[in-house]
Amino acid sequence: MQTVAVFNPQSGVGKTTLCANLGHALALAGHPLTLVDFDPAGDLSASLGLFRAPTQGIDQVLLEQATLEAVSISTRDEVHLIPAGSRLSEWASGSISDMEKGKLLGRLLSAESSETDLLLFDCPSNADLLIANILLAVDWLLIPLPGDDAGAESLPHLLQTIETFSRARGRPLNYLFVMNRIPVRRRLTGVAASKFSALAPGHFCKSVICQSDQLEQARQIGRTIFESRSGSRPASDFSQLASELVRRSLSLE
Ligand SMILES: Nc1ncnc2c1ncn2[C@@H]1O[C@H](COP(=O)(O)OP(=O)(O)OP(=O)(O)O)[C@@H](O)[C@H]1O
Ligand SMILES: [Mg+2]
Repeated sequence: MQTVAVFNPQSGVGKTTLCANLGHALALAGHPLTLVDFDPAGDLSASLGLFRAPTQGIDQVLLEQATLEAVSISTRDEVHLIPAGSRLSEWASGSISDMEKGKLLGRLLSAESSETDLLLFDCPSNADLLIANILLAVDWLLIPLPGDDAGAESLPHLLQTIETFSRARGRPLNYLFVMNRIPVRRRLTGVAASKFSALAPGHFCKSVICQSDQLEQARQIGRTIFESRSGSRPASDFSQLASELVRRSLSLE
């Protein structure tokens, strides 16, 4: 089982959008997977059409040691979902200095054999204990990054966080950045792209996600871009990103 988290502690950078649409793209390309809504807000579940958040999910895994399979539901085209559950925020209110609690997700995952090969987590922005659990547990981080000055400025802090947690784990935390919200007409010019990739060489996906209101429209009706606008530019961006990830690093079977 491979574990990947869509992570960026900054709010509103596109984590949930990336998780839902990349997840569906991977499934459509023949890679069944389980998405995990690791944000008590439940935005991922709503993005997939579950507007009344299911009461049980990953909270039951953390609190009651339920198996992943017991709380996983099937959504569409081999996309399974583990919702956040109504008690995730209660669990996440624990102290960050509680090291055992910080490592719980990692311990539970290492004892699991999920029904799918890939678990893709949607991370919250402000929940230290949940974020620490993710950074100590997963194999890979996928980090959506705005392709503007704010994105470039946030990079050193992100790299520092990754290094700190790599040391704490005793094994490196793999990571890839995905540029998001790139204006369609400009795309990312060669100069801008090389400026970004020079900041973390080898850690930028070639595929980028365009700025598109179609993504917001799809999300509002609880659909992925493949269900609402299958031939669109953002749908093609997510398909390309899925192929790149399969090809370059995530070695999905
Ligand atoms: N490429 C894009 N084009 C247009 N809108 C986008 C794009 N990516 C994300 N958005 C919009 O930006 C907003 C924030 O996106 P999203 O909720 O995915 O971010 P997030 O990082 O998960 O936020 P949070 O930190 O609150 O969980 C949403 O309204 C979403 O529809
Ligand atoms: Mg989100």
